[in-house]
Amino acid sequence: MQRREFMALGAATLASGLTAAQTASVPTPRATHPETLTQKPLIFDPKTLDGLSEKMIVSHHDNNYVGAVKRAKLIEEKIVALSSSANPFEFGALKREQMVALNSMILHEYYFDALGAAAAMDGKLKSMLESSFRTVGEWENEFKKLALSLSGGSGWVFLVYNERLKRLENVWSWDHMHSLWDSKIILALDMYEHSYQMDFGSNAKGYIEAFFKNINWNVVNSRVSAIA
Ligand SMILES: [Fe+2]
Repeated sequence: MQRREFMALGAATLASGLTAAQTASVPTPRATHPETLTQKPLIFDPKTLDGLSEKMIVSHHDNNYVGAVKRAKLIEEKIVALSSSANPFEFGALKREQMVALNSMILHEYYFDALGAAAAMDGKLKSMLESSFRTVGEWENEFKKLALSLSGGSGWVFLVYNERLKRLENVWSWDHMHSLWDSKIILALDMYEHSYQMDFGSNAKGYIEAFFKNINWNVVNSRVSAIA
């Protein structure tokens, strides 16, 4: 601190009636980070999807995804504003809700970003799938079967690369907070009923097949390129 700044602080402290020690003990409020919680638009034209309606995709994005981003911002503001006298269970409840909202935001971005364009798997992705599942077809069958196991309920299915296992694996999540740690998401399929009820009713199998027809493999390839 420059001498001039020190003198100014001392004058301000005296003017406020606080001692320097008292001033130092006043905690600086933790900052919020709204710039990290901005909603992402769809990066494809939802009219161009094959078998997934524009109405359903836009509703899913604008209500469920954007709602999660807004909740994450609001919860962060409440956490920052929470007084130090709050009970641990109040703080813990907010932190739990923060994790639900943040993970919902992040997982929906993985889901929407990998939709929307005709493309093909590249050699690296195929090779890694064959190494982990024997054939690409066996991976796809397993992924779809896992997704179908969540029909009528809620959750996510992921193709992940796990750093501990050093291979690709299909994993499921019964909510936004349940996953295999140390994993990098390669492909995410939203199996909450809100993601398909409007177009498919309870026909989860039809939704899963439509999802596969609309995967933007260029995005999936780039996620694989980034891990190794
Ligand atoms: Fe969703």
